[in-house]
Amino acid sequence: MLKIKPFFIVFEGVEGCGKSYQSKKLYKKLKKNNIPTLLTREPGGTKSAELIRNLILKDYFNKSKKDKFDKLTDTLLYLASRNEHIKNKIIPELRKKKVVICDRFIDSTIAYQVFGKKVDIKFVNNVHKYILDGLKPNLTFILKVSSQSSKRRLLKRKTRNRYDNFSQSFYTKVQNSFLKIAKNKKNYFILNSSRNDNNLEKKIYEITSKYLKLKN
Ligand code: TMP
Repeated sequence: MLKIKPFFIVFEGVEGCGKSYQSKKLYKKLKKNNIPTLLTREPGGTKSAELIRNLILKDYFNKSKKDKFDKLTDTLLYLASRNEHIKNKIIPELRKKKVVICDRFIDSTIAYQVFGKKVDIKFVNNVHKYILDGLKPNLTFILKVSSQSSKRRLLKRKTRNRYDNFSQSFYTKVQNSFLKIAKNKKNYFILNSSRNDNNLEKKIYEITSKYLKLKN
């Protein structure tokens, strides 16, 4: 069990919501203010977890159903990669009293696998009980985006992404799931990320510095 008082920040949202961009902005701003900070992501974050990430993401481009991972295999791979990440990176870095910023965490599994793919929540919660070891995000930012904005951002990307393989209705379902997860939770902030201006990064920094009790 983690005994220190950690500070763990998570960004969540659908593809094209800008969470990777915003988490990088927050990371740079905290570093600039001399706050020891680590930026990481899921699935991935360590060498072994990145290997699992490659397996998962490659599988989405398999055409035939019989070549694809079963949804429980897929879920277990996300959880396996999370276990590697927690044990070998997140907890050791929090112990060093660093602020850890993570691009996606457990709510992605609830939104995509449980709500999106109808995997039994008991299955996920059970495995989480073993791998989380009491770890909980202190602050979660859910970035909410319009379908037009996310599409526009995804079209600009050079690499092919899974957005081509999922329908818009799947993403709407996943986004609504994130909103449902965040409802009535005090450490969750739902922020609109459809516009491309710097107000959002300012707001995120404002909220974070309040939580971290930083003097601006
Ligand atoms: P990324 O686009 O943020 O790099 O995330 C990779 C993909 O992994 C994205 O489509 C969301 C998906 N994902 C899940 O389905 N479940 C999870 O638990 C995590 C962490 C990600």
